[in-house]
Amino acid sequence: MKTRENYPHIPEIHVESSINLLLRRAKENRTTPLEEYVTTGGYSALEKALKRLTPEDIVVLVEESTLRGRGGAGFPTGRKWRFALSNPPPRYLICNADESEPGTFKDRIIIERDPHLLLEGMAISAYALGVNEAYIYIRGEYPAGYQILEDAIRDAEEAGYLGENILGTDFSLKIYVYRGAGAYICGEETALIESIEGKRGHPRLRPPYPANEGLFGRPTVVNNVETLSNIPIIVTYESYFMNIGPSGFYGPKLFPISGKVEKPGVYESTMDITLRELIEMAGGMKDGKKFKAVFSGALGVYSKRDLDTPMDYSPKGFGGTGTTIVLDEDDCIIDSLIVIANFFHHESCGKCTPCRVGTYEQHNLLKKFQEGTATEQDLNLLKHLAKNIPIGSICGLGFSAPQAIADAIKKYPEEFEAHLRGECPAGVCF
Ligand SMILES: Cc1cc2nc3c(=O)[nH]c(=O)nc-3n(C[C@H](O)[C@H](O)[C@H](O)COP(=O)(O)O)c2cc1C
Ligand code: SF4
Repeated sequence: MKTRENYPHIPEIHVESSINLLLRRAKENRTTPLEEYVTTGGYSALEKALKRLTPEDIVVLVEESTLRGRGGAGFPTGRKWRFALSNPPPRYLICNADESEPGTFKDRIIIERDPHLLLEGMAISAYALGVNEAYIYIRGEYPAGYQILEDAIRDAEEAGYLGENILGTDFSLKIYVYRGAGAYICGEETALIESIEGKRGHPRLRPPYPANEGLFGRPTVVNNVETLSNIPIIVTYESYFMNIGPSGFYGPKLFPISGKVEKPGVYESTMDITLRELIEMAGGMKDGKKFKAVFSGALGVYSKRDLDTPMDYSPKGFGGTGTTIVLDEDDCIIDSLIVIANFFHHESCGKCTPCRVGTYEQHNLLKKFQEGTATEQDLNLLKHLAKNIPIGSICGLGFSAPQAIADAIKKYPEEFEAHLRGECPAGVCF
């Protein structure tokens, strides 16, 4: 049985679930070996798929499940698969395991603790999509995850769950693991494809979309780790999957929570849970301090008024990757925004001028607020950038780079006003 000692250092991460689906075998800080995966029902969905269902049956199941991509955009998975299927083979499947957004550490739990769940999901998806060659693109900062996946693929091939003539059928699948080099932008699906092709990780202009013209110019489906790990559950549960969670947002969801809560970690729930309930699930505010804000990764800011937001993909829902960074009364909004602004400035690939220059300017302007030298004009310039960086950008990084700042200006005007007077309500700046 594999232990953590077999792999490079893996931090201890608290894991909890109210529904035991994606995290069923991931509660302990250990990698579930193949034998245990199989004796607890693993690979039975693959067997069912290959021996009792047609590829079309599986696509229909995924469409009916309403599964939305867990990589951030929440795009319906079944619809994406249909687009790819409308193009002739050869097609490719890519699992996006780049997981580089601040505060996001949900996919690593599946990879490090239950890798066969992901591999089984990829094998079923590949069968449905008529794919015989698939890739996992894993961020370079997950060295243990990379080795765990390589070992799991080898074990699955030896046992006949991957490789040639899987489970004695005429379906074959080779999965390659590709390591990124540490750039957030390589999680953007077209930059990721460029990176696998050996080019610089810059996003492509779309159209064409990857489903039409992706890896090596072929139809390609890019799905997130958590999305693909849902596939064995859908195939197993079929229509019962529609009993898991609220209407239209069925299925389990992982929420990585960090910051000022008693028990930071990865939580599994249905999507009818609210932000407030999620914080309670994580043990509530650390040391009984007052709630101040939630940063949804790098992409948005939620205030006390938003605590009853459902964690789903509705227009008023939390959406995204479910990443929740909790701030308390001792944290400064400006100080926290600077961390985010620095991240976007550092990670912009530089292809579009508004993103390249705008993210740099955002960072500089926020620093002026922190140092007490900002003016009303600087605040207006921040608003101007928030409106215009997305307009001149070609990819999601540029679309979301000003989002947290725009939200904070709207929801915490008093923090900006105080800093303009040279005061920091949390006593962090100056
Ligand atoms: C800058 C940037 C970084 C991204 N990083 C990731 C990532 O690490 N993992 C991921 O699954 N999706 C990431 N995405 C979203 C992908 O482009 C893509 O939409 C996703 O992998 C599709 O999978 P899904 O449909 O299963 O969600 C990123 C997007 C952008 C714009
Ligand atoms: S929006 Fe930013 S990250 Fe995206 S392609 Fe343009 S410069 Fe690169």
